[in-house]
Amino acid sequence: MILVTGGAGYIGSYAVRCLRARGDEVVVLDDLSSGHREAVGDAELVVADVCDRDAVRDVFAKYPIESVCHFANLILIDESVREPEKYFKVNVSGGVNLLAAMRKHGIKNFIFSSSAAVYGSPESQPISESAPLRPINPYGLTKVVFETTIEYACRHWGLRAAALRYFNAAGAAPDGSIGERHEPESHVIPIALEVAAGKHESLHVFGSDYPTPDGTCRREFVHVDDIAEAHVLALDALKTRGGFRAYNIGAGIVLSVREVIKAVESVTGKLLPVEDSPRRPGDPPMLEADSTRIRKELGWESAFTDFSKIVETAWRWSQEPKF
Ligand SMILES: NC(=O)c1ccc[n+]([C@@H]2O[C@H](COP(=O)([O-])OP(=O)(O)OC[C@H]3O[C@@H](n4cnc5c(N)ncnc54)[C@H](O)[C@@H]3O)[C@@H](O)[C@H]2O)c1
Repeated sequence: MILVTGGAGYIGSYAVRCLRARGDEVVVLDDLSSGHREAVGDAELVVADVCDRDAVRDVFAKYPIESVCHFANLILIDESVREPEKYFKVNVSGGVNLLAAMRKHGIKNFIFSSSAAVYGSPESQPISESAPLRPINPYGLTKVVFETTIEYACRHWGLRAAALRYFNAAGAAPDGSIGERHEPESHVIPIALEVAAGKHESLHVFGSDYPTPDGTCRREFVHVDDIAEAHVLALDALKTRGGFRAYNIGAGIVLSVREVIKAVESVTGKLLPVEDSPRRPGDPPMLEADSTRIRKELGWESAFTDFSKIVETAWRWSQEPKF
């Protein structure tokens, strides 16, 4: 059985669905602080906080868990700048609770949802896994601290682990069954789609004076289905490989915020009113992935390579969200 923490959230729920589709038994631990009960599908759900040591221990005592995929983190960069303690508590201490329970029960397979935020704002792009880890916001710092904790556990008591450093997750299930729903929403595509649907008057572009060709931030995108698939491959690889390995996940789709807006306009057929706003603290100008390692070592490929197709899935979902 696989424990998926944060399995009621945007990316975790895709991983649950992917694992269930191939016949794995799954139990989800999620406090539903930003996740949705409906997103869990037919997997078992334990509503609990990953920081609650007793609740985490109970899950390991009750279920025959063999592997853990750990998604349950706080994810808002600007909030992490304002309230770093909250981020260290959930993203670091919560993870340590999990590792302690795993060690106690002799469970050694662990996949962690890391992030491009570990790299901070590197000058050299695309970014490979060997780039220095120099986060520029508390969110990214919690990812580095917890990756280091995992690496230590691998050396110290034989944990087998992979940290998947996603760049920007995007899109929804092509069949419209699950998709992204965050309150508040901080990701550019769903916000742009909300503007297209008339839910907001305009779209704020945070920073138009970055050292990039059009002055707005550039990001690399990857469809959530492809991220979920990477989890399955990484879990399978742990059967034959010990130690710790980090993998970047990006689909090779690199776009500026203005280019994202254009793509959303073309998919939705709406012109989006845009307001140039000040930069957000903690936002690096450019994040472009070198994902060679995961392609070569795990045979991962992105099925979604056309950005407009990704936006189409998200648009379909946003018009008829199921939760
Ligand atoms: N969305 C992205 O583009 C992106 C990029 C890089 C990395 N990540 C990482 O992927 C993971 C999932 O991100 P997401 O976008 O699906 O976020 P999300 O907020 O949709 O999902 C997180 C889930 O964890 C749960 N959770 C939060 N705190 C918890 C706690 N203390 N105890 C138990 N459950 C808790 C939430 O209820 C939610 O269901 C996170 O670790 C995030 O840092 C996301």
